[in-house]
This record gives sequence, C-alpha cells and structure tokens, in this order.
Amino acid sequence: MKKQILVSGGAGYIGSHVTVELINAGYDVIVADNMSNCDMTCYEGVKKITGKQDIPFVEMDFCNYGVVEKLFTDYKIDAVIHFAAFKAVGESVVKPIMYYKNNLLSFLNLLEAIQKHGACNVLFSSSATVYGEVETLPVTEKSPRLPATSPYGKTKQMCEDILRDTIKAQTNIKGIALRYFNPIGAHPSALIGELPRGVPNNLVPYITQTAIGKRECLNIFGNDYPTPDGTCLRDYIDVVDLAKAHVATITRMVEGCMKEDYEVFNVGIGRPVSVLELVTTFEKVNELSLNYKYVERRMGDVPSLWADTTLANEELGWKATRTLEETLKSAWEWEKYVAQKENK
Ligand code: UFG
Repeated sequence: MKKQILVSGGAGYIGSHVTVELINAGYDVIVADNMSNCDMTCYEGVKKITGKQDIPFVEMDFCNYGVVEKLFTDYKIDAVIHFAAFKAVGESVVKPIMYYKNNLLSFLNLLEAIQKHGACNVLFSSSATVYGEVETLPVTEKSPRLPATSPYGKTKQMCEDILRDTIKAQTNIKGIALRYFNPIGAHPSALIGELPRGVPNNLVPYITQTAIGKRECLNIFGNDYPTPDGTCLRDYIDVVDLAKAHVATITRMVEGCMKEDYEVFNVGIGRPVSVLELVTTFEKVNELSLNYKYVERRMGDVPSLWADTTLANEELGWKATRTLEETLKSAWEWEKYVAQKENK
C-alpha cells in the first residue's frame, strides 16, 4: 500500500513543488488549500508534470475544525506536511491578529484532529526566522532561538513549540520541523513557481518582475553592510532541492528512522550569497541587464544569515544539488511563462 501524505497549502509555491517530488517518489498525495494566496495554476502544473490527473484536491480552510476532522475520516493519512499559513513578514507587523489567528488556529486544529484519529507524522514548515537576530554564523539547529522580529516569525516559533509539546504528551504523534532559509527558483519545466500577489516583497520575484518590465527598477536595500560587497548575505535554497528535503524527511518519518520523536533540521545550501552576487548571476545566466539601484537599508533586515546544513546532510541523506545559475534560470523561465499566460 502506498503511503498517503496530506499537503496543507499544497496548491502554493513550495507545496506544489513538494507534491511533485512526493508523487515522483511513489507517495500518494492529498492536496488541501483554501486558495487564499494562490490560484489553480500550480495544482494544474503539478498534474502536467507528474502526468497524474487524479490527485485529490480539497478546497478547505484549516481554521475550520469540522472540515479538518472530516479529512481524517475521509482519508487514511500517514503523514501531514503543513504549509497552510500566511507568510508575509511586513504584513504580519501590520495585521498581527490575522497572523496569530490564522497560523496558530490552523495548526492547532490539525493537531487536534490527528490526536483524535490515531497515529500520524507531522512535518512542519518552519523558517530560519525562528533564530531571530543571530549572533553566530553559520546557524546550527543548536543555535538559540532569539526573539523573532515579526509576528510571522513568532507564529513559526510558537508552532514549533506547540508541535514539540504535543509530541511530548502524545505518543501517537511524531514530528519534524524544517527551517527553510531563502527558497527561490521554480521547477525546470516552468509549469510551477512562485506567484506573488501584488508587489513582491522577496528579492527573486522582484528581480524577475523587473526583468520582464512589470517593475521599473529593483531597489537593493543597503550597500553599507559589514559584508564583502556591502549588500546582505543570505542562504538561497532552490525550491526543487527544498522539495526533495521534504521527501527525505517524510521517508525518515514513515519508515521509522527518527532518532527522537521531535526533530529539527535547517534546510539551506550552507553558502552565503550576497544580493549583488545574486543580481549579477541572474543577469549573466539569462543574458540580460537589470535596472537596479541602491537605496536605504530595509528595516528588520539582518546583515547576514546562512545555515550550517551538516545535520540535514547527514541525517536526511539530503544535499542541495542545483546551482545558483540553474535556479536563477528557472526563476526567469517561470516569469516568462506567467507573462505569456497573462497575455493570452
Ligand atoms: N532585497 C532587496 N530588494 C528587494 C527585496 C529584497 O534588496 O526588493 C534584499 C533584502 O534586503 C535581503 C535579501 O534581499 O537582504 C533577501 O530578502 P527577501 O525579502 O527575499 O528574504 P528575507 O531574507 O528578508 O526573508 C526570508 C523569507 C522570510 C523568512 C526569512 C527568514 O522571505 O519568510 O527569510 O530569515 F522569514
């Protein structure tokens, strides 16, 4: 019998890439999404890439306990990957209640439903943001979680704690939190990718939208940081590599290979890349010139953040393999695909 994996938020950016890799690895997937921050593009793209037309799709809101419980009555679920959450750092500062309510309630509902329906493995989609304003680099899983700098970040810290405490009290639940660094890029088929609504907050969608002419100019936030070229350093992880880390994690859980009932792994490439390096690499691999200028630092940005990925490499048997060049090519191919779809 194939193992069934529920992917909450499975029609979104990371969720759709993970769905593809799970199906490729032989898992059955149930996609659940409330479509609050995406349309059907990626779900349709997943079907095209995998050639699987019958991937169950449930349009539902995890904040509604009744429908979450029904999922566990309707399907035998071996593991859940929980992506369904709001994720814009800046918006969370302006609308904290919306963020706390949505991100916490949906996760609590999920755990409560699992508790009622017997054993299950939970993969929680966490973020490097849980480390707060780090003091020592690279960041290991043992680095302290300092106060998060946004309500969004706090919801990630709280959900990790909720999962850990629930597992401590419930022997039928096991869980792993994956702390992503900066996911970027798109599937090599260019059929799925990131579809930000409105003006993008993140660097790569802003770059691709500038290159295609949707935005006039990329603002690089600060060139006076204490880094080699003065721009911030981050750990940019390709979304397909990231998706493969989820498959390795799910396999570790369903095959009973966990060393502890609750585990945490950093998911990054383990190499710092500056904003300027990313911009110039994008220009080079895609043979274009980007309109950009330096502006003031953005509030809340830390100068440098990158991961020590030793634990994930050793324990999950996973390592990022796509190059920055491949990733930035895929991001551009995806942007062109979106533009072509919009112009139809
Ligand atoms: N940047 C620009 N111009 C832009 C956008 C970003 O110069 O238009 C710079 C930022 O200043 C930063 C880098 O590009 O130095 C990366 O910025 P992103 O907004 O793409 O990503 P962040 O590192 O700020 O945030 C990401 C995720 C968050 C997560 C955080 C964890 O988007 O969800 O990593 O550290 F919380």
